Amino acid sequence: MRNFVLGIVITIVVLVIGGAGLALLGFMPTRANTPPPDMERHLAMSALDNSVERHAPRINNPVPPTDDNLIEGLKIYTMNCALCHGGIDRQPSTLGKSFYPPPPTLILHPPDDEEWHVFYVIRTGVRYTGMPAWDKALSEPDMWKVTAFLTRIEKLPPAVQEYWKKSSGVTSPTGEQAGHDEHK
Ligand code: HEC
Repeated sequence: MRNFVLGIVITIVVLVIGGAGLALLGFMPTRANTPPPDMERHLAMSALDNSVERHAPRINNPVPPTDDNLIEGLKIYTMNCALCHGGIDRQPSTLGKSFYPPPPTLILHPPDDEEWHVFYVIRTGVRYTGMPAWDKALSEPDMWKVTAFLTRIEKLPPAVQEYWKKSSGVTSPTGEQAGHDEHK
């Protein structure tokens, strides 16, 4: 039994040293201008979701979703997030395709997670991707405002839809749900 356990430990050590050795010899792919393989994407997304489920505190959004706060959220999004996640003109970001993994086009496919989940990702970022941790760049209330905006993109109140249209010339996804849907 002792030899068996020792065998397992030695195998693991050899694999780790071997892996590090191959990386140091330059065998590890580092190119970002290629899409991640499906298996890697699924594994990474599930690992991220489960890590957030495990670590994120279950807190309610302390910022009420008033028209003013949602419009603030839209502005914060446009200033800080649109570059990677797509602008309110609802065109996917051109830079978005240059990331490994590519950032989701949140403006077209908003997250359907709870607010505490989205807030945690925004506040702490996602390691080994281009997603920054925003806790050093944005205030707590601003992170909550952009969370409120993102999780309500498909059900924005009329005044916010109006603001969206005025600033971009394009209707928000909310307006579209009532009528026809040209983007699907
Ligand atoms: C420099 C590019 C970049 C910027 C700027 C950026 N993000 Fe991200 N974001 C990413 C990438 C890349 C991912 C994908 C991470 C992954 O695949 O796990 C991501 C993931 C996310 C997710 C998780 C989506 C999901 O499906 O779970 C949320 C939410 C998010 N970003 C919100 C924001 C907000 C809000 C801002 C602005 C305050 C922002 N991001 C700014 C690159 C960026």
